[in-house]
Amino acid sequence: MTEHPTDPARPAPKKLFIKTYGCQMNVYDSDRMADVLAPHGFRTTDDVDDADMVILNTCHIREKAAEKVFSDLGRIRPLKTERPGRGLMIAVAGCVGQAEGAAIIKRAPFVDIVLGPQTYHRLPELVARAARGEGGVLDTDFPAEPKFDFLPPPTAQGPTAFLSIQEGCDKFCTFCVVPYTRGAEYSRPAADLLQEARGLVADGVREITLLGQNVNAYHGVSPDKDATWGLAQLTRALADIPDLMRIRYTTSHPRDMDDALMEAHRDVPQLMPFLHLPVQSGSDRILEEMNRGHTIAAYYKTIERLRGYRPDLALSSDFIVGFPGETDEDFAATMKLVEEVGFVQAFSFKYSPRPGTPAAAMKKQVPEDVKDARLQILQKELTRQWRAFNQACVGKTLDVLLTGPGRDPGQLVGRSPYLQAVHVQGDHSLIGQVRPLAIAAALTNSLLAAPDGPR
Ligand code: 5AD
Ligand code: SF4
Repeated sequence: MTEHPTDPARPAPKKLFIKTYGCQMNVYDSDRMADVLAPHGFRTTDDVDDADMVILNTCHIREKAAEKVFSDLGRIRPLKTERPGRGLMIAVAGCVGQAEGAAIIKRAPFVDIVLGPQTYHRLPELVARAARGEGGVLDTDFPAEPKFDFLPPPTAQGPTAFLSIQEGCDKFCTFCVVPYTRGAEYSRPAADLLQEARGLVADGVREITLLGQNVNAYHGVSPDKDATWGLAQLTRALADIPDLMRIRYTTSHPRDMDDALMEAHRDVPQLMPFLHLPVQSGSDRILEEMNRGHTIAAYYKTIERLRGYRPDLALSSDFIVGFPGETDEDFAATMKLVEEVGFVQAFSFKYSPRPGTPAAAMKKQVPEDVKDARLQILQKELTRQWRAFNQACVGKTLDVLLTGPGRDPGQLVGRSPYLQAVHVQGDHSLIGQVRPLAIAAALTNSLLAAPDGPR
């Protein structure tokens, strides 16, 4: 398999197709993998049939997400066998790679490379090894060297960007694989983050979303290296970058919403009034079984305080129904919380037992049909709430960051402060600007603004 040159001196461009599953961290990682491979002659393509290399950047959080990888591999396989002259390199990256490792190569021997989320900076070397004919190259280390030190600075792809500031998790919620697949918590030094953010803004980025599995557990070394900064301090420093108009962060944990961060929501206008704060369940008993480390009363208190500082704060959450031992009363408590708090967006899931996690071995697993019924009830209410929120925006003027062309000619798409997609007729020169737009209608998945006025 010499058809995969990794020598930058040899120009022959190779086409790289990356499929991303799961969370925003994976979206970020996929972009970085493309960045790492670019100097080695790989250009990204949206057409899998045209690819010389396919990376599946996988998610292990629920069983369905993991199984999807194997069915996709089955679909990709013929591309490799049916055009032997050209060859196709297949890599499985991300959390399924980490969790399943060599078992992937056993089950799908046509896979060339398996790697975890902490080693993608080594991709060029792994590709070179696979190209030399070393079949089934595996790298699921948790290396001592942080991968970020080996990655090229990220490049802007429009007015919004992700910036990974923290990774991994030490919380060990009993349902979750993340502490096993992403490893221990690690916070990047603040100086590196400020430098990357300045670079992104210089390239035209106006909104940065700070990413981390536990983003508000951030505790990076300060620029002068004599202190540790939390997320609040980092946010305040980022807000000093001229032209950075918006800052968001995700995903946060209720346990880590400290005073300083809540106060940043009061003081930093760039911090957008939208917060994804997963609560998972409305029952204290279930939260305890989940090892979430907070109570419902504490969640309410946090929200009350945040809304005191920022009355227009819109909330989003994750929910799990059918966690082992969840009774009708526990589920009713979740519904009560949803009705009382009100969420403008939410992700809700049936509990999915993950091998090796404590909850998978708990007695009193909830039958599938009960999970189905609860999920349906919950999703109905959550859908009602986000529709009502979108409807309530009609007639209001929202500041919209115009991020790119819309689907129709002459149309632009943008983002409201509350992370709603907004469509508007307007000129391309507006991309990258924040405009106050009058919301005329709420469509299924977006808002429609009246045409942007004369300027
Ligand atoms: N089953 C169902 N949902 C899960 N999540 C994490 N692990 C599981 C699991 N085993 C959900 C949580 C988390 C989101 C990213 O995925 O709600 O916040
Ligand atoms: Fe998983 Fe809990 Fe860590 Fe979130 S806080 S990544 S749910 S273990």
